[in-house]
Amino acid sequence: MGLTLAQKLIKSHLVEGEMKVGTEIGLRIDQTLTQDATGTMAYLEFEAMGVDRVKTERSVAYIDHNTLQTGFENADDHRFIQTVTKKHGIYFSRPGNGICHQVHLERFGIPGKTLIGSDSHTPTGGGIGMLAMGAGGLDVAVAMGGGTYYIPMPKMTRINLTGYLKPWVSAKDVILEVLRIMSVKGGVGKIIEYGGEGVKTLSVPERATITNMGAELGATTSVFPSDEITLAFLKAQGRENDWVELLPDEDAVYDEVIDIDLCSLTPMAACPHMPDNVKTTDEIGRIKVDQVAIGSCTNSSYVDMMKVASILKGKTIDPSVSLCIAPGSKQVLNMLALNGALSDMISAGARILESACGPCIGMGQSPNSGGVSLRTFNRNFEGRSGTKDGKIYLVSPEVAAASALTGYLTDPRELGDAPQISMPEHFIVNDNMIVPPASPEEAKNVEVLRGPNIKPFPKTEPLPADITAKAVLKVGDNITTDHIMPAGAKILPYRSNIPHLSQYCFAVCDETFPERIKAEGKGFIIGGANYGQGSSREHAALVPLYLGVKAVITKSFARIHVANLVNAGILPFTFSDEVDYDRIDQMDELELVGIRDCIENNKPVVLKNITKGEEYNLDSSHLSERQRAMLLCGGLLDYTREMNK
Ligand code: F3S
Repeated sequence: MGLTLAQKLIKSHLVEGEMKVGTEIGLRIDQTLTQDATGTMAYLEFEAMGVDRVKTERSVAYIDHNTLQTGFENADDHRFIQTVTKKHGIYFSRPGNGICHQVHLERFGIPGKTLIGSDSHTPTGGGIGMLAMGAGGLDVAVAMGGGTYYIPMPKMTRINLTGYLKPWVSAKDVILEVLRIMSVKGGVGKIIEYGGEGVKTLSVPERATITNMGAELGATTSVFPSDEITLAFLKAQGRENDWVELLPDEDAVYDEVIDIDLCSLTPMAACPHMPDNVKTTDEIGRIKVDQVAIGSCTNSSYVDMMKVASILKGKTIDPSVSLCIAPGSKQVLNMLALNGALSDMISAGARILESACGPCIGMGQSPNSGGVSLRTFNRNFEGRSGTKDGKIYLVSPEVAAASALTGYLTDPRELGDAPQISMPEHFIVNDNMIVPPASPEEAKNVEVLRGPNIKPFPKTEPLPADITAKAVLKVGDNITTDHIMPAGAKILPYRSNIPHLSQYCFAVCDETFPERIKAEGKGFIIGGANYGQGSSREHAALVPLYLGVKAVITKSFARIHVANLVNAGILPFTFSDEVDYDRIDQMDELELVGIRDCIENNKPVVLKNITKGEEYNLDSSHLSERQRAMLLCGGLLDYTREMNK
């Protein structure tokens, strides 16, 4: 039986496990990327592993999220990332050089390689034939240190494209159609592989628009073959030597096949407030538009921008519309400046923004109250724009530009002939905003600059023989990661500052908790059912680690949070008999007797309540062998350090 392209990529990087759907597989990672909002913690974690130099083939740190400075914190973070990357063998893409996924595609992506990035839209790299996945900061740190990346073996979905896109219909409409068919949950546990004759009609940036929004399907990743179109893109970037041909086997077997005839597609929009709430522009009708925002990692390539410039050329935007445009990279912006397209945009009334995430991450350009904003971005969740009652529609650059001119949601086919723009034969290549790492010799003299916002990764230690501590906090059912570690604009600039964040830990449930555990020096948390539900926020484990939490004992856990606790070296147990939860009071003195031996030899775990003179059986059957090994070492970083010895 033949293999799908994704299966081939997995097979060539498989270091552990069997390629059986749902079972855990370990992959060797060739490349990593970080952005600044997640990067600070990833590099603090990397430093904590004590590895001198990255073990990946290529790792790149991008600054694209928090580029608007409102205090010293961002600048401190950028300076830290610039120096820590120089020291440890990582490339640094300076603020202004562009959005991580756009720049990575242009300058670093290589067909056939594996890439993980601490950003959920890392699957953009699938447009160039990479196996590219979004991951947590800690996973990225571990991969940089030479560690394996683990995922459950995904199912294979093939999207068979036939025909070609009609004028005014674009790659964005393809992925909107896929979202309409599959929904935002339809890709979970799957890799979406594109194939069929229609693939040959799509350039690499168009393919990347499609793989980028595979993240909105919940897919592990999406991938296109690497063919002569890929070669043409790499050639235009002066990187033809990076090309290899990658195709699925003729007799590859897929778990699911979806057919899409590109000729049948028309301009579409994802309506508020979900990327899969997709309708054609005809179905939506003429709605008044207040703002149009063009850019983001989904739609900010050179061709996207040239189409917009050509639609705007010689015209003026509607007086009631605010139009902002953020070209995706310095390369794109520079080319638009040199060929006059930038002038066409400015003349028409566009507000040109820095090549960065900008409004996509809520850094400026929130729409007016109740306003309608058409965006070429990938997410339109309620409130993400910064305006609570803003109505965000996700559209193609063509629909966006046409609507900016009319002031209404507009089917661009009304404008007549579509602009004929194709990918250039040569992009302007100037990597002077990418700072290469120091050589191993020079690296010895590189000082990592840490402003007051950069604090070290919390201390970890190997699991001791026994642990005695108080139940410093007892909480009820359905505690979310937001309860444990709240988010929000006030706290966001402190992602690299765990001591500062620690004062907010459980603040919404019990604001005296941080002080209490600090006074004790260590403690256990007793929780109800479904503890740690919500986001995958790793800070919800790292902050308790910093405060001295040794174990969290609950009626039940949310799955991802257990993994985060284990990664942080915190013991996660459940009560064998849920009624024991009621027997423990806050501040009871507890003991995990012979805990190291129990974890090492997979023996039953007993919790002694010294205050009440009772004993309770705990369940640890949810822990895998790898997780037990991690807990013995003191968490994932120490485990990786051990493995590397
Ligand atoms: Fe940035 Fe938005 Fe993409 S925040 S990485 S442009 S999803």
